[in-house]
Amino acid sequence: MCGIVGYVGPKQSSSLLIEGLKRLEYRGYDSSGIAVNTPQGIKVGKAIGRVRVMEEFIQTTGVFEGHAGIAHTRWATHGGPTQANAHPHTGKTKTGHTIAIVHNGIIENYIPLRKYLTDKGHVFESETDAEVLAKLIAELYDGDLEKAVQSALRDVRGAYAIAVLCDNEPHTIVAARKGSPLIVGIADSAYVVASDASAIIAHTSQVITLDDYQVVRLCAGVKDKVGDGGPWAVDFRTTTIDNVCVTQEVTKLEFDLEQIELGGYKHFMFKEIMEQPEAIRNCLRGRIDHREGRVVLGGLSGLARDLVRARRFIISAQGTAYHAGMIGEYLLEDLAKIPARCEYASEFRYRNPIIEEGTVAIAVSQSGETADTLAALHEAKDRGAISLGVVNSVGSTISRETDAGVYLHVGPEIGVASTKAFVGQVAVLTLISLYLGKRRFLSDEVVRSYLKQLEALPDMVSRVLEQSDHIKKCVEQCIDRDNWLFLGRGYNYPVAIEGALKLKEISYIHAEGMPAAEMKHGPIALIDKGMPVVFVATKGSQYEKVISNIEEVRARGGRILAVATEGDDNIHQYADAVFTVPDIAEPLQPMLTVVPLQILAYHAAVLRGHDVDKPRNLAKSVTVE
Ligand code: M6R
Repeated sequence: MCGIVGYVGPKQSSSLLIEGLKRLEYRGYDSSGIAVNTPQGIKVGKAIGRVRVMEEFIQTTGVFEGHAGIAHTRWATHGGPTQANAHPHTGKTKTGHTIAIVHNGIIENYIPLRKYLTDKGHVFESETDAEVLAKLIAELYDGDLEKAVQSALRDVRGAYAIAVLCDNEPHTIVAARKGSPLIVGIADSAYVVASDASAIIAHTSQVITLDDYQVVRLCAGVKDKVGDGGPWAVDFRTTTIDNVCVTQEVTKLEFDLEQIELGGYKHFMFKEIMEQPEAIRNCLRGRIDHREGRVVLGGLSGLARDLVRARRFIISAQGTAYHAGMIGEYLLEDLAKIPARCEYASEFRYRNPIIEEGTVAIAVSQSGETADTLAALHEAKDRGAISLGVVNSVGSTISRETDAGVYLHVGPEIGVASTKAFVGQVAVLTLISLYLGKRRFLSDEVVRSYLKQLEALPDMVSRVLEQSDHIKKCVEQCIDRDNWLFLGRGYNYPVAIEGALKLKEISYIHAEGMPAAEMKHGPIALIDKGMPVVFVATKGSQYEKVISNIEEVRARGGRILAVATEGDDNIHQYADAVFTVPDIAEPLQPMLTVVPLQILAYHAAVLRGHDVDKPRNLAKSVTVE
């Protein structure tokens, strides 16, 4: 989705802005733009396509010299990906000054506002809602940018994260948020404002996170006005849109630059697949108490009694997080014996759900910013549910708006196709289920056995990763096929859907995932000679049934790729290709069985020549409903 970066401080802002935009590229975008407050006024540049086009433009024109600037990567919502629609957008004040703005989110009442501003004489150049905000701030400007932003935001409905410049206040950026994330990094004599911490971490780990309806004014300027070498004075203040002063807590970002760089890998997705053993170790660290044979989840301790007595869990999420939530549904019912269901957050929110007393709503999200998941969370809370977050991004909106939660701690995930976050989400949902199960019906012996296996999991994942080249060779043999099926049962049914999603989103191959038994009820009609059908066929309660389903596909000429348990010699007579995972208890299998499917999707995309980390049309974090 759209990304914002702004800089004010002693350095030339344009190079920092471009560097920031590059760090935001992973979020998905179609155009970019920059505005710098130069001694000759605000200069704006925009480009369609990659940030490097913007960078070349800046280098060739050479007019972007100035210490305060804002920049943006746009993922089109209102109006196509054109130069005119790219941000920043500008407005002219009554006194002839220029306002420039970058905006993430959606202004819902932009049509009446546009009419109002047109009547006032403003001429619009784009189809965007963001331009309305630029012109509204300009209309309301009477010499104080902070005030103009506050009053404009009192008039808008919708979601926004914005950063604003005015040529009358050359060393100032005013930024604000409601419903879209925005963070301010406090660096040496400078401020970096961004929608995502990855654009800040190269400069500082000290940040403040804005809350909804907050406005921050960031000033950094030469005290003695003698030039770039002089001492720089910095100053920031936060207010609400009603101009009430707010005291901000400075927090520390929990990751470093190295974690968001490729480190020798070609793609973030592959790096993150390979990082999974370490990601699981980090997720489990300090959460397993072997002496007592229990799970320790500090984030839940304040609510432990309510959770143990809960009558129902509702998990809401989207995409890959939804698939992890489906596994959570199985885990909570199986291990904790509490009724649970997982829903698409976007559906839950609008279907007038019944929330009984004793309902716990879990929002699962890597980013902690997914608009639908956040909206479902609000809905559940408004109807009286206790809310929990299972989130990766520390300090994100969902993590701040839930009553309690458990972080994944798998490190930043840059690849648009979610991999290590999925495994982290399932690991956390497993921990929560064991935490509750131990306090309800699970015997000490059973809990201890699961904990032991969980601890062995990172090494088991490493064994699966070693098969990457083998998986690649098997994928090569069916890379020309445009339709794939992914089938599994029980805990491995959500894994099958996740495998299909991975393949679709980065290789653009049509794939469907479903319960293996469901195939007979219609989709079997699709199977023809050579159609790749991926089965998760690990040892467990439904193994024989899955083998029968494999037979049904083979009888119709389908090509079988099976994820099977190490040592299962039987499977080879049924499958054209076998990827193995170590033997582990059924509830823990998804964290292993998903790994070959992630690798399969990765190789398929590379073999088809796609840019794995920038899949077409996709955004890393979907912050619009
Ligand atoms: O940040 P979230 O976990 O809330 O994101 C949810 C989905 O948008 C996300 O999982 C998406 O489906 C990924 N592209 C999957 O790889």
